[in-house]
Amino acid sequence: MPLEKVNVPIYENLIGGEWVEGDGLVPVQNKYNGETLSYITKASKEIVHEAVNNALMTYQEKKLTVDKRYNILMKAAHIFEERKEELALTIVHEAGKVLKDARGEIDRGIQTFIASAEEAKRITGTGIPIQGQPGQEGKIAFTVRVPVGVVGAITPFNFPFNLTAHKVAPAIAAGNTVVLKPAEATPIIHMKLVEILLEAGLPGGFLNVVNGIGRETGQYLLEDERIALFSFTGSAPVGRHIKRTTGIRRLTLELGNNSPNIVHKDVQNIKRAAHLCVTKGYGNAGQACISVQRIYVHRDVYDEFLKEAIKVVEKTKVGDPELADTDVGPMISEEAAASTESWVKEAVHAGATIAFGGKRDGAVFYPTILTDVTEDMKVVCEEVFAPIVSIIAYDDINNAFAKANYSKFGLQTGLFTSNINLAMQAAQELEFGGVIINNVSTYRADIMPYGGVKDSGIGKEGPKYAVQDMTEEKVIVIDTLEED
Ligand code: SIN
Repeated sequence: MPLEKVNVPIYENLIGGEWVEGDGLVPVQNKYNGETLSYITKASKEIVHEAVNNALMTYQEKKLTVDKRYNILMKAAHIFEERKEELALTIVHEAGKVLKDARGEIDRGIQTFIASAEEAKRITGTGIPIQGQPGQEGKIAFTVRVPVGVVGAITPFNFPFNLTAHKVAPAIAAGNTVVLKPAEATPIIHMKLVEILLEAGLPGGFLNVVNGIGRETGQYLLEDERIALFSFTGSAPVGRHIKRTTGIRRLTLELGNNSPNIVHKDVQNIKRAAHLCVTKGYGNAGQACISVQRIYVHRDVYDEFLKEAIKVVEKTKVGDPELADTDVGPMISEEAAASTESWVKEAVHAGATIAFGGKRDGAVFYPTILTDVTEDMKVVCEEVFAPIVSIIAYDDINNAFAKANYSKFGLQTGLFTSNINLAMQAAQELEFGGVIINNVSTYRADIMPYGGVKDSGIGKEGPKYAVQDMTEEKVIVIDTLEED
C-alpha cells in the first residue's frame, strides 16, 4: 500500500536519532476488535546493518557519564508517569491486555527504569587480595566493570512495556548502546517508550530500533557479530535457535515454564491460595512465562480447593479489555486461541474433565479449569501460555515435589504451607530459578533476580543482575616492584 494512503500512524526504524523508512508495511491490529491501529515498516538487512554500525560507532566515539545516564532514565520514568493512562491504553489496544493489568504494567515499568537509574550509580568492581598468593608480593589487583558494547534487545508481546524496560534501561545504565527489535504484535508501546527516552535526552545512536518480523529482521540482527550481548524473552525453541546462532557471544534468555504450584494440606488460608492460583492462571490471558499452570493440591484439601477455585473463576468478567472491570481479554491472536482450544480438546479426548470453561470466541479463550489430567498431556507437560490451569491431587509431598521437577522447564514455582521446615525443603529441592512460598509462581518484584534453569533460559533479569551481565569485569594488576 502506498504510504500516502495510510491514515493511521506508521512507525519506522530509528538509526542515530533519525527515522528511516523500511521495506513494506506490517499492520498492527487491535487484538479485541481487529481494527488496524498502525503499521510498522520492516527493516531490511541493510537497515539492520546500518543500525548496528551506528550503535557501534556511537559506543566507540561517544560516552554518557553516569550522571547523564541516571538523569535520562529518571526523566523518562517521570514522563511515563505523566502519560501513564495513554500508555496503558496503548497496551490494552495492541496487546489485548485488560486495563487494570496494563496500568499495573506501566507502574512496574516505571519502577524498572528507576531501579536501573539507581544501578547506574552502583557499578563497581572489587579489590583482589592477590598478595596472598605466594610469589605475588608487590602486586595490587582490582576489577572494574566496563560496558560490553552493543546490546541486541529482542522483546516479547506479553509485557511489551516492562520487559522492554528490563532490557533497554539496564543496558543504558551500564553504558552500552542498544539495537532494539520490538515484538511485531505490539510495536506501538515500544515506539512510545523509545520516543520518550529521546524526549528525556537520550542522544541519537544510543538506542536504535529495527522493526519487522522476528524470523527476518530478528534473524539479521542475530547474525550480526558486532553485537556483544543479546537479551531475549520468548519461547524455548526460539531461545535454542538464538543460542545456536550467536555462538560464544553473551546471552540472556528468558524462556518458558509450565509453572507448578503446590498447595499442601497445612495451607493457612485455602481461599486465598485458590484465589491466587486461579487469578494468576488467567491473568494476561495466561500469557506470562510464570502463569500458574499445574496446581498440585493435597488430597485432604482437594475438594475444598476445587470448590473455591470454581467460585473464583465463575465471577471472572471476560471480554472487552478496555472496560475497567474486565479480568480476561483476548489472547494475542485468534490462532493462539484456536491452538489452545485444540490442546484442551486433545486433553479431554485423553480423559481430562473440563471443570469450568473450555470455550472460545474468536481470540478470546475463556478461563478454564481442567481436572483428571495426566502428566503426559500437552496442557500439563508443555507451556500452555493460555488461561488454563490443571488441578491435580497428591498424597505425598515428596511426590508433589518430584512432579513439579519433572519438567523440561524451571523458571518459578510456588508452595503454600504453614510449615517452615517444608518451606526450606522446597527451597532446597525444587529445581527452579525462583521458589515462592505462600504465593504463586507468578509473583515477580522487578528488582529481584528473575530467570530460570533448564529450558527456561540463561542469566537473570532485574536491573542489578542485568547490569552485571551487561558489563565486563576487567581485572587490573599493578606491579609495584617494577625496578627489579
Ligand atoms: C514473563 O512472562 O516472563 C514476565 C512475567 C512478569 O514480568 O511478570
